[in-house]
Amino acid sequence: MARTKITVVGAGNVGATCAQRLAERDYADVAIVDVVEGLAAGKGLDLLESGPVESYDTHVTGSTDYGIMDGSDIVVVTAGAARKPGMSRDDLLGINQKIVGSIALEIKNRAPDSFVIVVTNPLDAMAYLVKHVTGFPANRVVGMAGLLDNARYRSFIAEKLGVSVKDVASTLLGGHGDTMVPLPRLTTVGGVPITELLPADEIEALVDRTRKGGGEIVALLGTGSAFYAPSAAAAEMVDAIALDKKRVVPCAAYLNGEYGHKDIYLGVPIILGGDGVERILECKLTDDEKAMLQKSAADVHSLIEKMAL
Ligand code: LAC
Repeated sequence: MARTKITVVGAGNVGATCAQRLAERDYADVAIVDVVEGLAAGKGLDLLESGPVESYDTHVTGSTDYGIMDGSDIVVVTAGAARKPGMSRDDLLGINQKIVGSIALEIKNRAPDSFVIVVTNPLDAMAYLVKHVTGFPANRVVGMAGLLDNARYRSFIAEKLGVSVKDVASTLLGGHGDTMVPLPRLTTVGGVPITELLPADEIEALVDRTRKGGGEIVALLGTGSAFYAPSAAAAEMVDAIALDKKRVVPCAAYLNGEYGHKDIYLGVPIILGGDGVERILECKLTDDEKAMLQKSAADVHSLIEKMAL
């Protein structure tokens, strides 16, 4: 029986770090594709040569040739331009639509049965684009963002309360942008609602920092955007699908009426397992939360319209 095959498209910081994390997990072979001559081949070889030291048998390859993607079970799309300081994720739409649109065609032809995890920004619109171009069913195209935003939110809460990140549970809704909708009402620390542990203004400050979490790192780095947490979140999604973990995590999923939204990708809690997006978990929202989600959806809709698919 062959190992699971994962292709990571894009050998930049997010892609290469994701490939490293997956190689170290040692349950699948990893192919890396990048248009820059030598970049994927060099990083792939470097990762292969790390195997004896890190004790993994993962076969890692890298190339400019999409042929190495053939027959992949899972494809992680990270390629695209990253934000520069002062740019929003949405400013990347035009350039990344071209890049991700052509990658989606390669996926359609070379890995027609694959599950696709989209990481490139603006995330929700790019996931929509991949679904549109590949024609894949909704369960096989999912966007990574909720897990990352949730990870940021949980780290800030854990740091604030001086507790383990493992004991902070939460979810969030909406697009991966400044209008994302964290849900303090559904945030618990070891089962205790956070609303009982922190005053409302302090919770709001953590929520606000989460919304701007990507931009905070872009501003600090000066060039490029975050990659450790984004690659960790993407690799966790690969685990959930490849190992059929049935994880309940927030991800950008295609909505067909759920939460009152249709024909759009938005962050929602899902069950992620061997069949990809196996189920979208719905919960009743307050009027305020509905209004915030509506605003977030309007932002994503306007990006989808701009792509003129
Ligand atoms: C971030 C980018 C990757 O949130 O969207 O860091």
